[in-house]
Amino acid sequence: MHPVEFIREKRDGRAHAPEEIRAWIEAIAQDRVPDYQVAAWLMAVYFRGMTREETFALTEAMAHSGEVLDLSALGPTVDKHSSGGVGDKTSLVVAPILAAAGAVVAKMSGRGLAHTGGTIDKLESIPGFRTELGKEAFFRQAREVGLVIAAQSADLAPADGKLYALRDVTATVESEPLIASSIMSKKLAAGAQAIALDVKVGKGAFLKTLEDARSLAGLMVEIGERAGRRVAAVLSQMDEPLGRAVGNAIEVQEAIAALRGEGPEDLTELALALAEEGLALVGLPPDRAREALESGAALEKFRAFVAAQGGDPRVVDEPERLALAPGVVEVRAWEDGVVAELDALKVGLAVLRLGGGREKKGEPIDHGVGVYLEKKIGDRVKKGEVLARVYHRERGLAEAKALVAEAYRIGEAAAPPPLILERVRAR
Ligand code: URA
Repeated sequence: MHPVEFIREKRDGRAHAPEEIRAWIEAIAQDRVPDYQVAAWLMAVYFRGMTREETFALTEAMAHSGEVLDLSALGPTVDKHSSGGVGDKTSLVVAPILAAAGAVVAKMSGRGLAHTGGTIDKLESIPGFRTELGKEAFFRQAREVGLVIAAQSADLAPADGKLYALRDVTATVESEPLIASSIMSKKLAAGAQAIALDVKVGKGAFLKTLEDARSLAGLMVEIGERAGRRVAAVLSQMDEPLGRAVGNAIEVQEAIAALRGEGPEDLTELALALAEEGLALVGLPPDRAREALESGAALEKFRAFVAAQGGDPRVVDEPERLALAPGVVEVRAWEDGVVAELDALKVGLAVLRLGGGREKKGEPIDHGVGVYLEKKIGDRVKKGEVLARVYHRERGLAEAKALVAEAYRIGEAAAPPPLILERVRAR
């Protein structure tokens, strides 16, 4: 079909046939459609939406636009994906729990973008850690350690790379079929048999309402199941950051503390919930998640994983080897009261201003900067008490400090918001 006809079809609210979608995605992957026509189509999808059938066809076409990994020889493989949050170091805790509990985690992860963090950036704060792995090394480590996390290969779902870059600059990110196909095409191409999704909801998340998150999660579960994968989703709160550490090295420190059984409650609760879902999906007993954590087996799995990827395993016992930036300033309470709000978006932006994230793809980042939240929602504070510590190297400090202060609202009473809002499983 001619691109103009294809765009007109969606502009006028008609549904595309699956074979048309396949041809369109193939043409995009081969750079045969100019960006202005792809952008016009994305805007038409944004306004007109897609039927479930169209979304399934789109996801499959995007998943097959590049290499599709076959992990079937590795045993019960589980992947985990977060829709993006602040302080979200969950993968670093979930993956070793799953591997210690008998699943195989052979995972590709992304870098942070805008105010949200990415697993690969966090792992690169471990001295020596390699995230660019060849296919052979990736499979070998999966077989030998049961846990490998590599940077997302450009060969996986390349059509998504192109569509996502255009969506980012044409205000067409916030579309359910486009988000679902973007996330699920990468997960299908990455090959795991089971996928545990963490869909974040709230101020620091991409989706602001529970209804939107529920609907997206249901769609993603259905897409995965139709493609022959087992998928479950946990909807979790992202109004305030997860845990207390936000940054890169500082988040790895907190993830290690969680693996030692000394982490913040919310992080541990979410990691266990996702690990339980993942184990259930591959027919392993969900109770093994807690056993793997409490016995220390998950911590030992993390140590083996770090060493296998060239990282310094001494970080596990000596977290100070994960160097934080030397400058520390404190944000103090301006009155007595209770923390009523702690805006995750503002904290995420503060870390971005310090240089801990990137405004544009490919920029280098500072792994040592970050924010440690001494007080979270529901905590009582006295005037002059430390609310948060900002680790910095001068860059962006004034703005970051102001953002952290603005993130807090001190009121009279508040309870911590519930963390896990819902679980969505296949029917
Ligand atoms: N994450 C993705 O990979 N794609 C989206 O569209 C949104 C979040």
